[in-house]
Amino acid sequence: MPLDSQSTTVWVQPSGGPLGADVHGIDLAREIDAETRAALVDAWSRHLVLRFSGQRLDDAALMRFSRLWGELDRVPIGTGAEKVNGIAAEARDWVTVISNVKVGGKPIGGLGAYESVWHVDMSYNPLPPRASLLYAIECPAEGGDTGFSNMELAYDTLSDELKAAIVGKTCTHDASRNSAGEFRRGFQEETDPRRTPGAHHPLVRRHPVTGRTSLFLGRRVGAYIHGLPVEESEALLNALWAHATQPHLAWYQRWRVGDLVMWDNRCTMHRRDAFDETARRLMHRTQIVGEPVIAA
Ligand code: OGA
Ligand code: MN
Repeated sequence: MPLDSQSTTVWVQPSGGPLGADVHGIDLAREIDAETRAALVDAWSRHLVLRFSGQRLDDAALMRFSRLWGELDRVPIGTGAEKVNGIAAEARDWVTVISNVKVGGKPIGGLGAYESVWHVDMSYNPLPPRASLLYAIECPAEGGDTGFSNMELAYDTLSDELKAAIVGKTCTHDASRNSAGEFRRGFQEETDPRRTPGAHHPLVRRHPVTGRTSLFLGRRVGAYIHGLPVEESEALLNALWAHATQPHLAWYQRWRVGDLVMWDNRCTMHRRDAFDETARRLMHRTQIVGEPVIAA
């Protein structure tokens, strides 16, 4: 059924931090006209993370809005949590449940209630997603905030010495664990980082749309910078991660029901605070298929 299209003048309000903006005056469940879409494209390229509050989206609407940004990516391989999660058959391959809620003692989604460390979504794949969209259905009163950090600013503010140390270098992105540190199905501990399973990516990448350069770290655990002795790789990674995770590069999203947050997964990292495990947090997430990573 065709949706009523809306002629809106969206209002983009920057977060005031190093990335992130609110987009006001738009109902994502309705059709987005070309002019509005162009305004969103522009806002996204400037702010890297967009928040749309007060939305009411079912999975079909979440998938429809997500498809404005490209082809939907399949849900990631999980930890075995994705069983009885209330997702309709049409959405099951495309909508990931992120939740600590348990039904019959079993979690209905991924990531539990504990901290999730800084990461890029699915960067252990050769083609990491372009974007992820996370929609809040239930939130705890406090905790579970999600931090986003600007990896373009991280690259720009890197010392000349560290820039020189990583130019032309690639790094392994660990496929064996999720961002909460749990092993994915079929993986076990590997103590030698030279043998970590997962994609190899350039440490410095160029954004395919904006052309801007960013630091591409992805995930710390299991990382290895190719061509270096392990101790040198570890020392360089520690220096890069200490730089990239500085609070002044980040902005935190405090969730409210109806928030949809969409991030550019090519030039940002994110993490999540722990929250009270007896509180309920339920989010539905989509990802957009990415393009090949361009070294810079
Ligand atoms: C994710 C993720 C953080 C959160 O869905 O990729 O990292 O706030 N989620 O749940
Ligand atoms: Mn994530």
